[in-house]
Amino acid sequence: MGDSGIENLLQESRTFPPPAAFASKAVGTADLYTEADEDFVAYWTRQAKERITWFKEPKQGLDDSNAPFFTWFQDGKLNISYNCLDRHLADGGDKVAYHWVGEPGDTRTITYRELSDEVNRFANGLLSLGIEKGDRVAIYMGMVPELTIAMLACARIGAPHSVIFGGFSAESIVDRVNDQEAKLLITCDGAWRRGTVVPLKENCDAAMESTPSVEHCIVFDRTGAKVSMSDGRDVWWHDLVAQQSTECEPESMNAEDLLFILYTSGTTAKPKGIMHTTGGYLTGAATTHALVFDLKPDSDVYWCAADIGWVTGHTYIVYGPLTNHTTSVMYEGTPDYPDKDRLWSIIEQYGVTIFYTAPTAIRAFMKWGVEYPQQHDLSSLRLLGTVGEPINPAAWMWYQENIGPKDCPIVDTWWQTETGGIMISPLPGVTTTKPGSATRPLPGIFAQVVDVEGDPVPLGGGGFLTITKPWPSMLRSIYGDDKRYISTYWERYPGAYFAGDGAKTDEDGDFWILGRVDDVMNISGHRISTMEVESALVSHPTVAEAAVVGATDDLTGQAIAAFVTLRGTATESDELLEELRDHVAMKIGAIAKPKTIIFTPDLPKTRSGKIMRRLLRDISDNRTLGDVTTLANAEVVAAIAEQSGGK
Ligand code: WT7
Repeated sequence: MGDSGIENLLQESRTFPPPAAFASKAVGTADLYTEADEDFVAYWTRQAKERITWFKEPKQGLDDSNAPFFTWFQDGKLNISYNCLDRHLADGGDKVAYHWVGEPGDTRTITYRELSDEVNRFANGLLSLGIEKGDRVAIYMGMVPELTIAMLACARIGAPHSVIFGGFSAESIVDRVNDQEAKLLITCDGAWRRGTVVPLKENCDAAMESTPSVEHCIVFDRTGAKVSMSDGRDVWWHDLVAQQSTECEPESMNAEDLLFILYTSGTTAKPKGIMHTTGGYLTGAATTHALVFDLKPDSDVYWCAADIGWVTGHTYIVYGPLTNHTTSVMYEGTPDYPDKDRLWSIIEQYGVTIFYTAPTAIRAFMKWGVEYPQQHDLSSLRLLGTVGEPINPAAWMWYQENIGPKDCPIVDTWWQTETGGIMISPLPGVTTTKPGSATRPLPGIFAQVVDVEGDPVPLGGGGFLTITKPWPSMLRSIYGDDKRYISTYWERYPGAYFAGDGAKTDEDGDFWILGRVDDVMNISGHRISTMEVESALVSHPTVAEAAVVGATDDLTGQAIAAFVTLRGTATESDELLEELRDHVAMKIGAIAKPKTIIFTPDLPKTRSGKIMRRLLRDISDNRTLGDVTTLANAEVVAAIAEQSGGK
């Protein structure tokens, strides 16, 4: 490769064709690619009409006359809560929507009928507080069914919601609430986390001292914690809904009306309020959920183990699954409480068939050891998924061998808050998978790896990932900042959406995501993806997790500094350190051999589980640490800094 892209170092040759029995019954079929390649707007319009019940069917598909402010199905009218609930009640609505598992061990089974009744009641409660179509509602709750109920109630009356992850601080609430001038804040008294109560209402109280737009705060009583209620402002959830009717007319929304705002923190600057609208978003959510997860609504028990505070939860716990009449599992707590087998015990108990989680979780499972999944019968599983970061081939193999049944298909799904739904992923009944590759853009999605000039990189090369055609669930803008929307996503490669990720293709045309462009290192003029070096390290049997960064180096510009977490059984030693450096050289070449390796019991991560390489760069370069407010485990940073020689 020239000096215009990113090196392609890691070679992975294992392939897994879909098992014949799976392929013969698969929901997603190969002809969808042909159909979408011929006319992508017609393809998406067909999905929109078949998967969604419209109050008024759209005649328009894509409108690209005001690019990059694209619209989809602009003249259509619909209500999302109607699609998620009302139309599933014709048979009485007895089907289970959620098997909910509380962290302390309490459980709830919620049918479509019950969910609908609660949503209608709460929607009437919102109306009684004066919330109108178009008013913004911020939601800061734990993983309780009421979070889903609140979102659907907002959608029912046409009030855009903005969910703020329950792990964020009061300060984060202030920024997000003020940016959108939310009129209402919905919260819980507290949330369970590893047996203790996170004081959500207290955080809201602190935040509401600086959020002038908020008129009311609704509080759901989850933990029984003592909270202070401010007269006239704060209302208990149970009081609000007590007298409300279970019927609330769904608002007829335009396809392009705002459904939600979700803030992504990006790297440093002010969080971006990513805007998603109604018709296109739901089309994308329902279509990708059905095709990628091979959803059989009559027999599957589906579990997306993300938090609803992230887009993964919006699209694949709430909107996609409910639109598709799915029975889901929803879990309140952490995977290691009360013990490290919690997820496996839930899978066994409910007979989960489809399981979707993140590479960071999978690497934690590897670190904890196979004895935990081995304690449980996981034979109900038939499909596994991953999202959030590049998955190291070794973690992919571990997931397939230790969690799935033999040859279980794995869907490695690449997408972003901005894309609204899955973009690059196998169709599990069609695509031959490769550990570490998200494989191909889904039908109706078009991606291209380009060099710095924007020219296509030939197959086999690395560069920058772009999406070349609009898609229905794309973000519509950044709330209140159209300029930033254009400059962040559309200016670098005119006519294409710039995702901010590096990627390479292989000779078959499959895509391999190399991580955020900001994380790419420059070693003696070679652009090397952190992810490839990390994957080489993780392929060593003693390594559970690794992060590498480019540390400033007089000789080579940058030198590779690696931070390594060992598996439960391995011990640190100087010999192992040398062995790991040689292992990387052997796997992907001498150029990628780490100059330094530091052992650490944990790596700094964002609250969504992404490794924060930026902080490791600060440590390696002996700089003051940058913003640490979105860090989940602040204590590890100090420990690593100390280890790296007081730097
Ligand atoms: C970034 C988006 C999409 C929901 C969760 C994250 C990384 C996501 C993959 C994957 C490699 C991935 C990318 C992307 N990413 N999925 N399968 N393989 N990288 O949403 O917080 O908006 O993050 O996550 O870097 O740009 P998000």
